[in-house]
Amino acid sequence: MRLPVALIGLLQTCVALSTVNRKACQYPSRNPLDGCPKHTLVVGPGQTFTTIQSAVLSLPNNNTTTPYYILVLAGIYTEQVNITRPGPVYLLGQTSYPNNKSSNSVNVIWRAATGAEQNSSLDNAYTSVLTVAPTLNASLTGAGPTGFPVPASTPFGNADFRAYNIDFINDFADSAVGPALAVSVSYANAGFYYCGLYSYQDTVYVGKLGNAFFFASEIAGQTDFLYGFGTAWIQSSLLSLRNCGGGVTAWKGTNTTKFENRYGVYIHDSTVQKANETLEIGGKCALGRPWNTLHRSIFANTYLDDSVLAEGYVKWSATDPRVGQGAVMAEYADYGPGWNATARKEGNVTIVMDREEYEPYSTLEKVFQYPFDGQFGNVGWIDRSP
Ligand SMILES: *[C@@H]1O[C@H](CO)[C@@H](O)[C@H](O)[C@H]1NC(C)=O
Ligand SMILES: *[C@@H]1O[C@H](CO)[C@@H](O)[C@H](O)[C@H]1NC(C)=O
Ligand SMILES: *[C@@H]1O[C@H](CO)[C@@H](O)[C@H](O)[C@H]1NC(C)=O
Ligand SMILES: *[C@@H]1O[C@H](CO)[C@@H](O)[C@H](O)[C@H]1NC(C)=O
Ligand SMILES: *[C@@H]1O[C@H](CO)[C@@H](O)[C@H](O)[C@H]1NC(C)=O
Ligand SMILES: *[C@@H]1O[C@H](CO)[C@@H](O)[C@H](O)[C@H]1NC(C)=O
Ligand SMILES: *[C@@H]1O[C@H](CO)[C@@H](O)[C@H](O)[C@H]1NC(C)=O
Ligand SMILES: *[C@@H]1O[C@H](CO)[C@@H](O)[C@H](O)[C@H]1NC(C)=O
Ligand SMILES: *[C@@H]1O[C@H](CO)[C@@H](O)[C@H](O)[C@H]1NC(C)=O
Ligand SMILES: *[C@@H]1O[C@H](CO)[C@@H](O)[C@H](O)[C@H]1NC(C)=O
Repeated sequence: MRLPVALIGLLQTCVALSTVNRKACQYPSRNPLDGCPKHTLVVGPGQTFTTIQSAVLSLPNNNTTTPYYILVLAGIYTEQVNITRPGPVYLLGQTSYPNNKSSNSVNVIWRAATGAEQNSSLDNAYTSVLTVAPTLNASLTGAGPTGFPVPASTPFGNADFRAYNIDFINDFADSAVGPALAVSVSYANAGFYYCGLYSYQDTVYVGKLGNAFFFASEIAGQTDFLYGFGTAWIQSSLLSLRNCGGGVTAWKGTNTTKFENRYGVYIHDSTVQKANETLEIGGKCALGRPWNTLHRSIFANTYLDDSVLAEGYVKWSATDPRVGQGAVMAEYADYGPGWNATARKEGNVTIVMDREEYEPYSTLEKVFQYPFDGQFGNVGWIDRSP
């Protein structure tokens, strides 16, 4: 299993690095395709494709090596986007500033939430603006400590999905009223560069066998807004607190008997701060809480503003604490007014890692795994110089 997947990853890396100048394609021009690589489709008003999903559905599903590009012209797209294609798909947002998330001109918006106001029996999967997963079943959250039992025959989905300079917005409500996903990644590898992910509850879901990488992006939320089962790495990004609820992170870890796993969410060289100055949330926002007893998350070398709870992480609840049974709710070399060493220690929930404890989680190669066999080093899908 491992060798072919590794080989495909290597091939994709070579293709991607040798031929792609995504920025030349993204710059606005009279002919939108100027500067774009082969196999680029254009989405926009008056174009052949006016929705992103129609362009996605036109891609061949029988080709797992050729990357297809979808250039999305400036605008607001009110739609859900589902990526099931196994081969590489890169969504490029049109922009004059391809290295500045704040200047993005493409918004993809959907409005959906589960919970009291809509349909509490609906799985969270149905709410997401963007879903990268081979099947609906693979993307389901389910319930209980191990979630939805994804059928064992489910194949891996997209091995190299990327989005650049696109904001994904679930604006069902302007507070946490129930799960309302912006992005959902399961049985797939997905990279987000200079993107915005906006919601209030459960903004980013990285489900089973999901690998997700976020670079120079903004992820905004209130309650449990980084959650899932898979592996996520958030690099040089902004975690924007729109209020406090649950925790920033809520992960479900997995018992794997055949191999070791590093499923979890790793936040590096980033900033956690309130969305704006009018919010009165000083000392109130928890870094995370254990969605099951094997939660794993680490905030490393990250600036925490004064919104962060002095104790850092919290128990799930007083009657169902879910701590002390393997949960890793950790920090390494965090700083800023939200960092209080005394309170972290007294709280007795947050693990403050030393260099040796942090080491196994310190690089992309050490945490991202190949699907099914758990070997480490599945990083060919990550753009190292975006
Ligand atoms: C791949 O799919 C495309 C349509 O999506 C079709 O035209 C083509 O013949 C298929 N190729 C093979 C080798 O099946
Ligand atoms: C995939 O697409 C490339 C480029 O169009 C082509 O060379 C290759 O034969 C295709 N592979 C399959 C399995 O269709
Ligand atoms: C990025 O874009 C924003 C909004 O247009 C602007 O205010 C900011 O100065 C830009 N940052 C850089 C580094 O150019
Ligand atoms: C809730 O959603 C489920 C699944 O789509 C559907 O079967 C059910 O009828 C819905 N219930 C209500 C009250 O809308
Ligand atoms: C995306 O998938 C969800 C869940 O299956 C479904 O409800 C939705 O209609 C799909 N959207 C599109 C545009 O295919
Ligand atoms: C999805 O999972 C359910 C429950 O395990 C199963 O009954 C159903 O056949 C699956 N659907 C597909 C398309 O595999
Ligand atoms: C501040 O952020 C909150 C949460 O997103 C929002 O409801 C409020 O409108 C924002 N206030 C200002 C002045 O931008
Ligand atoms: C992991 O395995 C242990 C021992 O069998 C069990 O007690 C625990 O409930 C399992 N946890 C999860 C999340 O599956
Ligand atoms: C700290 O928490 C652990 C469980 O995680 C518990 O066993 C221990 O007694 C606690 N220590 C104090 C001082 O409360
Ligand atoms: C840090 O936490 C301790 C223990 O809760 C508290 O006494 C102290 O005032 C806090 N320090 C700051 C700077 O808030």
